[in-house]
Amino acid sequence: MAKVTIDGNEVEVQDGINVIEAAKAADIHVPHFCYHPSLSVVGQCRMCLVEVEGMAKLQAGCATPVKDGMKIHVWNDKVDKARRGQMEFLLINHPLDCPICDKAGECPLQDYSFNYGNVDSRYGEFKRTYPGMDRTAIGPHVIQNMNRCIHCTRCIRFTAEITGTSELAFFKRGASTEVGVFPGTPLDNWMSACVTDICPTGALTPREFRFESRVWNLDVTESVCNGCDVGCNIFIGHRNGQVYRYRPRVNPDVNDHWLCDYGRFSYEQYETDRVVVPKVRTEDDYLGISTWDEALEAIGRAYRDAKNTFAILSAQMTNEEASAAKALFDRIGSRTGVMVDPIGPIKMKSRTEWLLGTQAGPNFRGVSKVIGDGANVDNLLTNGADGIDVLYICDALFSERAKDPAVIASLRKAKFLIVHSWDANHPLCDVADVLIPGAIHPEKEGTYTNLQGREQQIHQAFTPKGQAITDLDTFRRISERLFELAEVSA
Ligand code: SF4
Ligand code: SF4
Ligand code: FES
Repeated sequence: MAKVTIDGNEVEVQDGINVIEAAKAADIHVPHFCYHPSLSVVGQCRMCLVEVEGMAKLQAGCATPVKDGMKIHVWNDKVDKARRGQMEFLLINHPLDCPICDKAGECPLQDYSFNYGNVDSRYGEFKRTYPGMDRTAIGPHVIQNMNRCIHCTRCIRFTAEITGTSELAFFKRGASTEVGVFPGTPLDNWMSACVTDICPTGALTPREFRFESRVWNLDVTESVCNGCDVGCNIFIGHRNGQVYRYRPRVNPDVNDHWLCDYGRFSYEQYETDRVVVPKVRTEDDYLGISTWDEALEAIGRAYRDAKNTFAILSAQMTNEEASAAKALFDRIGSRTGVMVDPIGPIKMKSRTEWLLGTQAGPNFRGVSKVIGDGANVDNLLTNGADGIDVLYICDALFSERAKDPAVIASLRKAKFLIVHSWDANHPLCDVADVLIPGAIHPEKEGTYTNLQGREQQIHQAFTPKGQAITDLDTFRRISERLFELAEVSA
């Protein structure tokens, strides 16, 4: 350990960490652009200059390891002057794009120029530009505006050091240096959009989010991606019940600073028709809108005389939903089972190791633990639901196989079919006897258990649409109704 003094505060930190990290321990921010805690140090931007007593020149904080007894100044006149000079240098060629730039509001370059920049420039209005490079699709998800680049190389190092795909590189020299992809090799790896998070300017922005919303108009909720069993930590950016984006939430033990593209853009699946009201099949075989009371009554009737019942749980359910469902179905005497589709594998890098997501659901492990020795859902899908009095499908999207017309026909052999779904276009919805509106993942509160056995909290970003309620509340309502009915008829 090393005892260092930073702006008069003595802190004890691990020997050899750099000044930026040591200052963090003293609760002091060292402005920086090119340094990133999960990438190599290149000392490219010179924004992190600090004064170290006993050293003649200012030192780059990212490239200076601390030693016991060091006295460091992050904030004094000498450093401040250098920082202003550096900002002026970086802004010589930077366009005045903030009003039309998607990075505005969360842009380090904008924030630093506001806080450490000069009001005036000594260089007039002439700026070097990159004609024709202000909206270049360099990959399926990333749009480049080279005029905004400050040549920090974070994006280049990301593709070299994290994905190992090295699609990005510097081309040309001097003031003409540009970041680009090699001909015929677009930025098309499984984590490509991460470069838009780590780019400290609006030079790289995600195609899916461009011009969708100003970032300060979004509400932000902490959650966990439900794309696979890695369970990457995310921020959900949303407004008025609509998801605009997912961004990585740093968790060194799971996803560090990253998200895969599949998970990052998985919210797009919610841009579809939702089931917003309960529906009940009438005697003349019409699946019509009902009240909750009518739907619960139909469910109650179906279970009342049923002998052979089955419930299919889903790897998308939270631990709490699975527990509520299991308690309900145990009380009914129903068999319960869960299945999950294989996926990927999707590689995700924690700070120390690669994790491999292999299941197309965030919580197969958690739900399986709740169920214990579950019934075999795969058999049911293959052999059909003949002889089953009531089949309850807790999530129509429990498996891609459930979209197959042959599988639907075989599930429909159950005498009574209850389908719980948020996706109104799912073919199972059309064949249900009772259709229950389900909640999407940003509408849920609860926990998922990831492939490491780590229980992680998801938070509700907004309430379910229409007359939908959370799935947890649905199971509670059904439970109340069923056992009320049982008590009355006893
Ligand atoms: S595009 Fe962004 S991340 Fe890449 S070098 Fe330029 S400023 Fe840095
Ligand atoms: S690795 Fe899995 S959990 Fe992580 S972002 Fe991708 S899909 Fe989501
Ligand atoms: S952060 Fe140190 S030189 Fe860029």
